[in-house]
Amino acid sequence: MSEAGLVGGRARVGVIVPAAGSGVRLGEDSPKAFVDLGGSTILEHCVSGIAGAGIDAFVVVVVPAELVAHARELLPGVTVVPGGAHRSESVRAGLAACADADVILVHDAARPLTPPGVFRRVVDAVVAGHQAVVPGLPVADTLKRVVPGSTNAERVVDTVDREPLRAVSTPQGFTREALLRAHADNEGLATDDAGLAERCGIDVAVVPGDPLGFKITTQWDLRIARMLVS
Ligand code: C5P
Repeated sequence: MSEAGLVGGRARVGVIVPAAGSGVRLGEDSPKAFVDLGGSTILEHCVSGIAGAGIDAFVVVVVPAELVAHARELLPGVTVVPGGAHRSESVRAGLAACADADVILVHDAARPLTPPGVFRRVVDAVVAGHQAVVPGLPVADTLKRVVPGSTNAERVVDTVDREPLRAVSTPQGFTREALLRAHADNEGLATDDAGLAERCGIDVAVVPGDPLGFKITTQWDLRIARMLVS
């Protein structure tokens, strides 16, 4: 479907949920997406958040190969495929299972509390004609560029102007063509999909994110998430 078609017709939306990370930084016994968050896994929260966003999407979840059967039991009716060693490889595995979508979102399982409005803003911006869209928030902290110091302290080189900076999260939305182009290089690795799109010369638009879209990375984040769902 062309972009003009997306504006005129009803877009078919696919959501790829990369959930195949090990979660080493979280330090739990199971991979991060399978850690308990108030009685169900982080992954189940994430998928029900997508279902509740009102975007009528086809969902593909990407998990570690040894947890595919378990994820299928947790998420009946959801397509589950095995992931790769890097996030970008997991996204490419999901992309292969997302053949019918005109608009594709990539949404980290590690962001289970993302509010519905963020999904809708991203989908709406792609349908309106943007090839690639990310949710972003202004940066609150002062940012310093550092180099290794002489002892156990780093040395500040300069202070970065935070005004034009955005902290970017997921869901990141793409036309099918843009995401395929971004991932056409099977060796391409990046911490987000918009980064791969930028390297191909694709314009990336930013819509307002939401602090609830924070990523669970450390025990501190998990504590906050558990407090928020309790
Ligand atoms: O490691 P990080 O928190 O940045 O990972 C972001 C998301 O990508 C997580 O939901 C994680 O499960 C997923 N991921 C993946 N495959 C990998 C590494 C990370 O699906 N090999």
